[in-house]
Amino acid sequence: METLKEKYKDYFLIGAAVNASTIRTHGELIKDHFNSITCENEMKFSNLCPREKEYQFEKADTIVQFAKDNELKMRMHTLVWHNQTPEWVFLDTTKEGLEERLSNHIHMLGKRYGKDCYSVDVVNEAIEDKLDGFLRESSWLQGLGNDYIERAFLLAKQEMPEAKLFYNDYNETNPIKRDKIFKLIKELKEKGIPVDGIGMQCHINIYHSSMDELKEAIEKYLSLGVSIEITEMDVSMFRHEDRSEILKPTIEQYKAQARVYKECFQIFREYKNDITSVTLWGVSDDVSWLNHFPVNNRRNWPLLFDEMMKPKEAFYEIMNF
Ligand code: G3I
Repeated sequence: METLKEKYKDYFLIGAAVNASTIRTHGELIKDHFNSITCENEMKFSNLCPREKEYQFEKADTIVQFAKDNELKMRMHTLVWHNQTPEWVFLDTTKEGLEERLSNHIHMLGKRYGKDCYSVDVVNEAIEDKLDGFLRESSWLQGLGNDYIERAFLLAKQEMPEAKLFYNDYNETNPIKRDKIFKLIKELKEKGIPVDGIGMQCHINIYHSSMDELKEAIEKYLSLGVSIEITEMDVSMFRHEDRSEILKPTIEQYKAQARVYKECFQIFREYKNDITSVTLWGVSDDVSWLNHFPVNNRRNWPLLFDEMMKPKEAFYEIMNF
């Protein structure tokens, strides 16, 4: 059977989010089909440094070694985020103290993994979702002021000069959010801040029908002279606000999912010169974050491989055109 990475070798890298356990339990599937990986959690601030000055690199190291042993490329996720950052970072400190903590963190990551990663999500999800806000009121913003984003990019450039530096966000094709992301990156570029790309997370669902918006967002971001990576794709069986549960998807739901994957991949392929990688947020349906969110232990089936790690209709759909 042809694999995903073979099929897409002339288009872009095909990635998966992995974690310390899936590289063991799903290692063969990862090696067969993917040529890029992202740590789902293991390179986040709270996982690496739950207490000040106590870095625990073991899990991330194991994943980086797995990538090296199997010739997989790596994305780094993520340096600055409002979520999964330990509380100590923002406690008992001044603005200068917080700057130093940020700088130390980026230094530690750059030194250890900078050369192993082709791209880095320097800042994640900094835009406000509510209509009337621009930047999210995060502890980073409160502690460092509006220019914390540019500081992070400058530090990342200094510490990992060879990696491509990305701004990464979700709901990135929604025109209102898209325009805010565009404004942020435009302003950064105009100031000479080294932003190389925009990460489009692509957490969507089987009811997704706005392929025009996907194209428009890609076009708009590309007009800034950046590249694009699809960083966290999955296609949920549920609408965003739906909290109901199902035992198993219907044939129609699997078909709808396959259609959404195909239509998205059709567009990604059109932009193969600008899209470096397309990463799925997980390996197979049994290990998706959507089995825990927004309803804990509600099963979802958002990926290309099922709970038995077998290819689904969505897989065949993007392989056979
Ligand atoms: O590791 C602990 C474990 O010790 C504990 O027993 C268990 C109890 O709940 O929690 C475990 O930690 C969980 C962790 O995933 C590892 O499984 C956290 O509770 C849980 O919140 C965390 O969720 C992660 C989420 O980010 C946090 O916001 C998901 O795995 C991860 O897929 C998700 O990824 C994010 C991207 O980084 C950014 N974009 C959105 C995407 C989806 O939310």
